[in-house]
Amino acid sequence: MNDTSPVLRAQDLGKEVNGPEGNLKLLQNITFDVFPGDSLAITGPSGSGKSTLLSLLAGLDTPTSGLVSLKGESFSSLNEDQRAQRRGRHCGFVFQQFQLVSDLTAIENVMLPLEILGRPAPRQTAQQWLDQVGLGKRQQHYPAQLSGGEQQRVALARAFAVSPAILFADEPTGSLDYANGQHVADLLFQLNKEQGTALILVTHDPALAERCQRQCSLNEGRISV
Ligand SMILES: Nc1ncnc2c1ncn2[C@@H]1O[C@H](COP(=O)(O)OP(=O)(O)OP(=O)(O)O)[C@@H](O)[C@H]1O
Ligand SMILES: [Mg+2]
Repeated sequence: MNDTSPVLRAQDLGKEVNGPEGNLKLLQNITFDVFPGDSLAITGPSGSGKSTLLSLLAGLDTPTSGLVSLKGESFSSLNEDQRAQRRGRHCGFVFQQFQLVSDLTAIENVMLPLEILGRPAPRQTAQQWLDQVGLGKRQQHYPAQLSGGEQQRVALARAFAVSPAILFADEPTGSLDYANGQHVADLLFQLNKEQGTALILVTHDPALAERCQRQCSLNEGRISV
């Protein structure tokens, strides 16, 4: 695989569910490629399908039609364990729910994926990233002992720490004050530039969307440019 191959490919993705009011088309005809070093902002009104799309792109949920390929391999050819393995190796996540492990401290949460991947010096790497997101003094706090914004920054440190090929973020600055939001956005784009990490950001913040190379907008489950 060379650098001109897409890191992520979405081909004619669709997602339908049976909701309380019958069949719902959450997403339709979603097609795009994401290359190493790309940054893509996904915008659109609440309920338009942004988080649903991120889940499909990350292989956390399966589409009803179409394909998602990560680094040239379709998720549909893999079982759940294999999808989880590929996600762990290549993807970082910062989602709306922070998904920290509640009985691990901040530093242990950041160390966890590093240990799973067998990376050297997990504690030192985790410390560096917690420092980077301004939480050097909160390393031993459990998630319940952190504010919402602090939890989000731990999730960011955890996502950054593995140097993923692609980073998915759902409102990464949503619950942060202006200064911390700016700092986190700067870190995202620094990683994007220095390590070629592709970024896929869902955001309501026009300034953040504007910093991405590409923007696409979802409207009732379809891309409208
Ligand atoms: N399992 C489900 N069953 C039925 N409807 C669902 C299901 N999951 C999501 N939806 C609906 O799908 C639509 C898209 O949801 P999604 O979470 O992707 O929106 P979003 O664009 O991320 O919105 P927000 O900006 O508020 O986070 C919503 O209208 C939601 O009610
Ligand atoms: Mg959402």
